[in-house]
Amino acid sequence: MEGRATYLAALGIDDWRQRRPLATAGESWETIAAEVAECRKCGLCETRTRTVFGVGDRKARWLVVGEAPGAEEDKQGEPFVGRAGGLLDSMLRGIGLAREQVFIANVLKCRPPNNRDPAPAEVAQCLPYLERQIAQLQPRIMLAVGRIAAQNLLATDTPIGKLRGHVHSFGAAGIPLVITYHPAYLLRSPTEKRKAWEDLKFARRVASGTQA
Ligand code: URA
Repeated sequence: MEGRATYLAALGIDDWRQRRPLATAGESWETIAAEVAECRKCGLCETRTRTVFGVGDRKARWLVVGEAPGAEEDKQGEPFVGRAGGLLDSMLRGIGLAREQVFIANVLKCRPPNNRDPAPAEVAQCLPYLERQIAQLQPRIMLAVGRIAAQNLLATDTPIGKLRGHVHSFGAAGIPLVITYHPAYLLRSPTEKRKAWEDLKFARRVASGTQA
């Protein structure tokens, strides 16, 4: 896949997912949480207030993946607690899911200064934490919100508009992955909310096994 090759070349690495085992024997949520809390693998540890591990039901069927903590998340240590988080909660409620019923995490566990895009080297260091969380959770469905989450989970540079509307497959376990817009983008572009609503209904059908 050309886009994937270009993307990985830009990262300056071959494919970190092929080099790291997804699940580690004897691993637990606590092991991962303790490592994340102490993490100093990239420069973001110098500017963060708190790491943001993720929140929700550790037995959830749904995993929602965002980009990285913003200012409010960095203060509180919880993902999606700012304005975008309020919209994410409403989007989930629209398909019958309370925030407490899903697990919510980000590609990056620390806030990039001034909310800049995550750097490829930061993603390469941090994504394995998310992969280990996924191995613990074994979700029935993953919902990536926004371009950064979608492109990094799929290791592609394909635009988000082309990634929506398909069931992708994540990792060796082939977890169904659906893509939608980031709630922060939807706050700026409310006319796109209609498409996000279609995506969420699509994801609900995938999760219930009624979408081929
Ligand atoms: N945006 C994200 O992608 N994640 C958060 O946790 C907050 C805002």
